[in-house]
Amino acid sequence: MEKFKLKIIITSTRDERQGISVANWFTDKMNSNENFDVEVLDLKKINLPMLDEPTHPRLQQYRYEHTKEWSKKIGEADAYAFVIPEYNYSLPPALVNAVDYLYKEWNYKPAALISYGGISAGLRSAQMSKLLLTTVKLVPLTEGISIPLFSKKINEQGVFISDDSIDRSFDTMMDELLKWTKGLKYMRENII
Ligand SMILES: Cc1cc2nc3c(=O)[nH]c(=O)nc-3n(C[C@H](O)[C@H](O)[C@H](O)COP(=O)(O)O)c2cc1C
Repeated sequence: MEKFKLKIIITSTRDERQGISVANWFTDKMNSNENFDVEVLDLKKINLPMLDEPTHPRLQQYRYEHTKEWSKKIGEADAYAFVIPEYNYSLPPALVNAVDYLYKEWNYKPAALISYGGISAGLRSAQMSKLLLTTVKLVPLTEGISIPLFSKKINEQGVFISDDSIDRSFDTMMDELLKWTKGLKYMRENII
């Protein structure tokens, strides 16, 4: 059976970031998923400079090696899962920067959002992210995972421990992600 390529994009780049535990939890669950081959793209490690390309990404005339590498990774994907913190009721700057580098590579592909934060569960960040993502023709799923008071769910070993409600959100989101991944792949290959 065909496996789809899913890129898990970690968008917190802070030293001692806590959200890495959420990203690790999600990646562990996805590693045993029968429908997706998974690669983690950690924006802290990838370390893109602040957008420095001279031309609009629509033209794909990339000057810098870091952009060419990012273009290759994003271009080969069938779907994305963004792991997103919330800063000042808003989305993380590394996410904006990483998205702005490219355009066509993102087009007509689904995006699953996993947000975390305080009592608001990173929902403002996730909702604001949708405005950005749809502009590059990504299709953010309605069903996401949003984790309130997430730091209370990290144990002394730094491992994120989910609960029934989060696990149900995971299952619902993955059902939707598979549908949209198949549908949009068909669209990219046969309609566009
Ligand atoms: C600059 C800054 C702004 C923050 N603003 C929010 C916020 O608006 N809402 C929220 O729920 N948490 C906020 N927090 C707390 C974060 O949820 C918490 O620090 C979390 O660990 C951030 O994810 P990270 O550690 O993976 O970067 C903020 C944290 C920082 C550093």
